[in-house]
Amino acid sequence: MKRLEEKIRQEGKILSDTVLKVDSFLNHQVDTALALEIGKQFHRIFAEQRITKVLTIEASGIQFAMATAMAFEVPFIYAKKKKAVTLQEKVYTAPVHSFTKQETYQVCVSQAYIGANDRILIVDDFLATGAALIGLVDIVKEAGAELVGVGCVIEKCFQEGRSLLEQKGVTVHSLAKITAMSPGEVQFMPGDDE
Ligand code: G4P
Ligand code: NA
Ligand code: NA
Repeated sequence: MKRLEEKIRQEGKILSDTVLKVDSFLNHQVDTALALEIGKQFHRIFAEQRITKVLTIEASGIQFAMATAMAFEVPFIYAKKKKAVTLQEKVYTAPVHSFTKQETYQVCVSQAYIGANDRILIVDDFLATGAALIGLVDIVKEAGAELVGVGCVIEKCFQEGRSLLEQKGVTVHSLAKITAMSPGEVQFMPGDDE
């Protein structure tokens, strides 16, 4: 998605050869017009799939899940990162190890909101190690729902997330695929116009 690649080039801050800071439009302040465009793009990609719900994980996936769900005219669900005291009902949970924070947390979704008749599209901001996304994939399986695919806004192709998801048979589409980064320069997968 060219507009997204341009935004990353203009405003992304490369903190190291593996970490990209995008707080000005994605992880802190949100560019709402861009988020809506991203939702429409995921809709184009998965249009034939009769999706019933979009699933993400708090916090930074929420705006893209909402934009995508609006395009499909379905609800979205955001998984919570630990069991909140207010979440009294039965939940699906999966453990996620965060490599950046070196801690394991539980992702939780109420059993009331995903069922065997659902066709789920998972949406998230970053595809990096894939740890959080695999937790969501496991929750969709546990619910007996159909997983249609995973849509990520920014993929770091040099990390293992995509291959781990594809090993589980999951279809992955990303809108900006970064093949390499160095201070002052981001390289995207050539010829990619998703
Ligand atoms: P993950 O691939 O399963 O997300 O796990 P990882 O431990 O690699 O990443 C931890 C957090 O860092 C995740 O957000 C992930 O989206 C984010 N992340 C990974 N690589 C980058 C990067 O290059 N730039 C930025 N800005 N973020 C990155 P999170 O902790 O789940 O939180 P939230 O931001 O959604 O609240
Ligand atoms: Na996220
Ligand atoms: Na994040």
